[in-house]
Amino acid sequence: MYTVLIVDDVPAMAQQYAYDLRRLAGLDTRIALSGDDALEVVAAESVDCMILDLEMPGKDGFAVLRALKERGVDVPVIVYTGTGTFDRCVQAMRLGAYTFIDKADPVERVAREVETAIERRALLAEVAELRRYAAEDSVLRGASPAMQKLKEGIARVAPIPSPVLVIGESGTGKELVARDLHRLGPNPSGPFVPLNSAALPESLVESELFGHERGAFTGAVSTRKGAFELAERGTLFLDEIGELPLAAQAKLLRVLEERQLTRLGGAKPVRVEARILAATNRELDAEVAAGRFREDLFYRLNVHLIRVPPLRDRLSDIPGLVDQFLTGICARFGVRKKRIAADALDLLMAYQWRRNNVRELRNVVERMVIATDEELIGPGEVPREIRDRGEAPPLEAGRNFQELKAEAERRILVSALERNGWQISRTAKELGLADHASLLKIMRRHELRRPEDGVSD
Ligand SMILES: Nc1ncnc2c1ncn2[C@@H]1O[C@H](COP(=O)(O)OP(=O)(O)OP(=O)(O)O)[C@@H](O)[C@H]1O
Ligand SMILES: [Mg+2]
Repeated sequence: MYTVLIVDDVPAMAQQYAYDLRRLAGLDTRIALSGDDALEVVAAESVDCMILDLEMPGKDGFAVLRALKERGVDVPVIVYTGTGTFDRCVQAMRLGAYTFIDKADPVERVAREVETAIERRALLAEVAELRRYAAEDSVLRGASPAMQKLKEGIARVAPIPSPVLVIGESGTGKELVARDLHRLGPNPSGPFVPLNSAALPESLVESELFGHERGAFTGAVSTRKGAFELAERGTLFLDEIGELPLAAQAKLLRVLEERQLTRLGGAKPVRVEARILAATNRELDAEVAAGRFREDLFYRLNVHLIRVPPLRDRLSDIPGLVDQFLTGICARFGVRKKRIAADALDLLMAYQWRRNNVRELRNVVERMVIATDEELIGPGEVPREIRDRGEAPPLEAGRNFQELKAEAERRILVSALERNGWQISRTAKELGLADHASLLKIMRRHELRRPEDGVSD
């Protein structure tokens, strides 16, 4: 259980807050009647949040904030004044207060501010502690069982310096996976150098990979480093490796084996110190069988294999992805963030995403944003080819139990949260969960956050 310390020289005021927060948010409360008392309590006990009156005789709220800072006490502080002058609150925030409230505010709002402050602090601590998959860092969204497995796989192989082969259909997020492997790898501050051999004319592939000396071929007017050297002490991401011409495959294999290369037209070898990631949307073993991909290179790259699941195997990720795309797209267009109606979302979830997976979903969201001036996107905005899917099988058909369970859980959470105005303690109680923290944990697993606006009283 979380503890809130209420600091006010007027006992009745402090007791009122304490009573309300216990009753409404199920929080444990402590009271201090002076600045000195408050500092004593935080020194002796663990306090998760402080509500602080700025006007007190003796050590006032500002002095308390300064003292907390000096002593390095990290507790979120919510301040208020009796006079209703907010410039003093703003001044307090410069001294490190988390936010301010008005004495006239309904207690529900105060409870929500306290919860948000505690939640934010818990999140920050978790990020620092685990350093993995903090939503801020990874752009790879998704809480479905398939995605969790993918993220575990990434976390497991990322620290190992050997090559990783990333396989997945077009638009499933292979590049994002590669970036995460780099971010969680041995040299996250080193360069990440992507090279897409499919986008290069065959004659340039080798010089792009290995670099060249001046005069190595017509047009080589100066010496140039290749991608391997540019990725030194970082990561080289060989995208669309299945498109690499056979001659370049042979050279690549040699470089990987010898861990050194010679620039085109060069004489002295250069050491290779880059971590190698490769990605493809082809089934490489079939390419090997067809003689289009060297078997020895395949085995060299295939030390660790990561498969990125197609979107149709993780339909429960669609609500979260749509929400993320709506945020990004509306911000880019400079419009207020739009929402999607439940029946429109159902249509997106009933569609068999086959062509371009997440990329196609992203494009569809962009089209829907443009299709209406309304703030709510309805089923009418869903593109025709998705709406008319003909004889549709039931939503459950062909999907595994874990997936369906994740989807149902998310729906239950969202509707309970909406019913309770996204107030965590109340929702937890309604759902019969042990406490506020257990609900937050499940919400994090589903990447659910309170909407930033639309929750004011
Ligand atoms: N899990 C995800 N969360 C958020 N965005 C995603 C996710 N997966 C893919 N995307 C987005 O979808 C688009 C396609 O992703 P990406 O370019 O990584 O796919 P790819 O597998 O490399 O595709 P291709 O084979 O066509 O190169 C990008 O805009 C990416 O940001
Ligand atoms: Mg790609």
